[in-house]
Amino acid sequence: MLCLGIESSCDESALALVRDGVLLAQTLKSQVDVHSLFGGVVPELASREHGRVMGALYGLLLDKAGISGSDIDCIAVARGPGLLGSLLVGVAYAKALALALQKPVVGVNHLHAHILAAGLERKLEFPALALLVSGGHTHIYLVRSASDFELLGRSLDDAAGEALDKFGKMIGLPYPAGRHLDRFSGHGAADAKMFPRPYIDNDNCDFSFSGLKTAALNMVEKDPALYVGFDPSGAEPELPEGERGLRIAGVCASYIQAVADTLVVKLRRAHAKYGGARSLILAGGVAANSRVRASVAALAEELGLELVIPGPALCTDNAAMIAYNGWLLHNAGLAHALDFAAVPRGRHVPDDYSRSLCRG
Ligand code: KG4
Ligand code: ZN
Repeated sequence: MLCLGIESSCDESALALVRDGVLLAQTLKSQVDVHSLFGGVVPELASREHGRVMGALYGLLLDKAGISGSDIDCIAVARGPGLLGSLLVGVAYAKALALALQKPVVGVNHLHAHILAAGLERKLEFPALALLVSGGHTHIYLVRSASDFELLGRSLDDAAGEALDKFGKMIGLPYPAGRHLDRFSGHGAADAKMFPRPYIDNDNCDFSFSGLKTAALNMVEKDPALYVGFDPSGAEPELPEGERGLRIAGVCASYIQAVADTLVVKLRRAHAKYGGARSLILAGGVAANSRVRASVAALAEELGLELVIPGPALCTDNAAMIAYNGWLLHNAGLAHALDFAAVPRGRHVPDDYSRSLCRG
């Protein structure tokens, strides 16, 4: 069974083919160059770019895989959450292909796809406790199967990645700052007393990182020596030499550790409240962070859960995860009627599959 996956929820246009759960080929066009001038993603430009490159990426993908469109059995597309204008390009393209090829189409929840992506690399054991940590989301799920996700907790304000990026901005690092903070923090030791573990004195599994951000802002405002700055020509920002550099590294390490410890507190609570998980899946861009990985790995060991973290290329946005999730849904007999909708950021993605349209 060959499933085509289409991803256009933010600033990566990507297509991939998954055959029987194995990645066959993928094409990806990042829009970083288009948006870098503006310091963030410009939604209008993002959708125009998706529309411009989608057809060419499709042709390239078929060439790479050595197949023709009629070999495709099922079309999967990221339907949300994401930038609405961008999603609409992918969804319209998927529906047009479904009509032209007379094949079923299924809309995929982009967040679920991130979590299931590791299934391309290894067998996933369900039920699984899953933490998705990216620039836009911090969600804990109990995953019972590829189509049964229960949201146990989420951030009430900034996502974990956003909290890292905003702290990076305070000390003058370019967006997205997460990986620079990661690099700097390797040269310092975390001080557990420097920053609060925010929003843990309650009994829920939600997150709030605004208090942590305010604590960091107060510290940086009082201490201008923490400001690193960077060369806008694109050179990697460097940790200053000597004592000052060590201090900055220590502050970065302490800030990241506060985020990591908070994630662990809520994961441990989710596990206690909703027992029965066999594995712990960590996904999203922040899963690349060394302290987050180490802290979550220690928790998995303590709880006796198998730890699953997808490789770096599967952590960031890609179409392989969409094709893989589409393949799983198709195997479960699920598809969508041609009038399914794209779902913008902040809205619930419904489980409005259709069973009747999926076979044949
Ligand atoms: O999942 P992702 O690639 O994109 C979405 O947000 O959808 O996640 C991006 C986030 C950014 O906040 C970025 O700073 C963070 O992941 N990130 C990291 C690292 N690499 C990426 N944060 C901490 N340490 C890293 N090594
Ligand atoms: Zn994503």
